[in-house]
Amino acid sequence: MFRKLFLLAIVALAAGLGVFWFVTVPAVVSAEALPAYSPNIANGQAVFNAGGCASCHAVVGEPRTMLGGGLAIPSPFGTFYAPNISPHKQNGIGSWSEANFVTAVKHGTSPNGEHYYPSFPYGSYTHATDNDIRDLFAYIKTLPPLSGRPRSHDVNFPFNVRRLIGGWKFLFMDDKPFAPDPKQSAAWNRGAYLVNGLGHCAECHSPRNFLGGIVSSQRFAGGPNPEGEGWVPNITQKGLKDWSEKELAWFLKTGELPSGDTAGGSMARVIKNTSQLSEEDLAAMAAYIKSLPAVDGPVRPKKKT
Ligand code: HEC
Ligand code: HEC
Repeated sequence: MFRKLFLLAIVALAAGLGVFWFVTVPAVVSAEALPAYSPNIANGQAVFNAGGCASCHAVVGEPRTMLGGGLAIPSPFGTFYAPNISPHKQNGIGSWSEANFVTAVKHGTSPNGEHYYPSFPYGSYTHATDNDIRDLFAYIKTLPPLSGRPRSHDVNFPFNVRRLIGGWKFLFMDDKPFAPDPKQSAAWNRGAYLVNGLGHCAECHSPRNFLGGIVSSQRFAGGPNPEGEGWVPNITQKGLKDWSEKELAWFLKTGELPSGDTAGGSMARVIKNTSQLSEEDLAAMAAYIKSLPAVDGPVRPKKKT
């Protein structure tokens, strides 16, 4: 009897490991899956701005095109250091293929087949079109190659086991392509595409569970700042209330709030990128965000007096 139970336990464990192994296989885009295409570098630059790649990958204090990395990104799981994504052959992504790049940005898988940490917001970028990401690759190739590799991440066991990130992806990553809503205007759909995909606004403006997954029922409803101090505001109608679409578009362009204050913290970094977007794209993002139904976010703890 015990022998049988023991055998059953072993079989269950092996099956469990098999399932775990299966569901955590890193997703890869092969070169054959990408049809012939001539990239549009000007659009690649717009994608770069919408995606805010410079917020994390630009060398601190340098122009936004100097993608040598190094920024420390604190999180509850440890501190990540943005890698060098300049087109340097040895230290950056200069020797990557286009398929390597699409795989990294849309699926969070490295050229040697490992999972990236979701601190790189591929969970949002996955909704961008392949062509936008191919244009982005062509644009990044035109930027200055920088030598040097930033230090490696400070993450403790078990979070340093990259295979486990496959479990995170399985639970929390929805990699369905963006599907426009035919009932909405073209501008609204463009806004939805930019906000949920490249703009990765929900990555900061949503509460997360203890495994670092976005609480989907409270998407955009704000929460504790994942980078430590402070609070990220609710940008559903619950938080924005009487902001007009114009005020919202102006805010994304300039960082100025209707109250006359200026955005601080990590939002100031976001504005450096959104300020470069076209008026049409800013208006589209504003139209989409203003359409988000009011959702209560987590309650902000009272400040200690
Ligand atoms: C919030 C910060 C953040 C933003 C924004 C961000 N990244 Fe990253 N990125 C990271 C981190 C952190 C890593 C390292 C992940 C790891 O090691 O698992 C990374 C890794 C990468 C890598 C892999 C580099 C390598 O050497 O393997 C590429 C390529 C990349 N990012 C491109 C981009 C592009 C393109 C954008 C904009 C569309 C972008 N990133 C935006 C934080 C960010
Ligand atoms: C890296 C994290 C991060 C990302 C990404 C981010 N935000 Fe923010 N956002 C913040 C923080 C933090 C604040 C609060 C800034 C302050 O206190 O001055 C903020 C403030 C705001 C506000 C002002 C709300 C208010 O009531 O004061 C709006 C609107 C906003 N963000 C919209 C967006 C949009 C749209 C995007 C996507 C393009 C976005 N944010 C992406 C962190 C982020």
